[in-house]
Amino acid sequence: NSSPVMTLDGPGGAGKGTLASALARELGWYLLDSGALYRLVGLTALRRGLDPAAETDRERGAEAARHLELYFEPDSGDGQRVHLAGEDVTEAIRSDLVSEAASQWAVQAAVRDALLQRQRAFAVPPGLIADGRDMGTVIFPEADLKLFVTASAAERAARRYAQLSELHADANLDRIYQEIVERDARDASRAVAPLKPAVDAHVIDTTGETVAASIERVRGLVREKG
Ligand code: C5P
Repeated sequence: NSSPVMTLDGPGGAGKGTLASALARELGWYLLDSGALYRLVGLTALRRGLDPAAETDRERGAEAARHLELYFEPDSGDGQRVHLAGEDVTEAIRSDLVSEAASQWAVQAAVRDALLQRQRAFAVPPGLIADGRDMGTVIFPEADLKLFVTASAAERAARRYAQLSELHADANLDRIYQEIVERDARDASRAVAPLKPAVDAHVIDTTGETVAASIERVRGLVREKG
């Protein structure tokens, strides 16, 4: 437990992924994108035709989580690539369908339990930046520095819309906003590991702020920590 850990939790689209990878590069630490684990469970479940709402499929979903053959390829500059049993699924796990499935499977306690030790095993020297929803509250309660990164739902929808409209012409801002509000509600209201700031987390609201300015603020906190 001697290896340093910094946690970044918060809702989707608040900018924590960008912040986390910038910090990991700067410090030369490992990066745990825990959302990618839930996305891999979602992708596997979709491919196997498992339904999180069906009682009989739940154990099979947890089983898939226990046996995920995942590999994070070290970041060579444009983000960490994600492999599942030898297949590069970096883009596949970002689809809307997989986002939805990940969020539905993340509600299942058995799935979360299956991923718990897996996630803790990422805390190795020289250090770990862990990005997710429950990094500071459940997975790494003893973390050295905890951040809760947030932004208004409208701002997060606008950022997502800007990303998506580069890819397809039919991106719809209202629909994206609705999906964000629904996913926030599901993440915050679930019984197991709901999204909330750890009592000792620093809250970073990135609404109306550039990525560079957010990174600078976090650098300040890291320096204070020494
Ligand atoms: O962060 P990202 O959008 O990739 O996460 C995908 C889904 O995984 C989220 O909607 C959330 O429900 C779930 N998740 C979680 N706990 C984490 C990380 C992600 O429940 N630590």
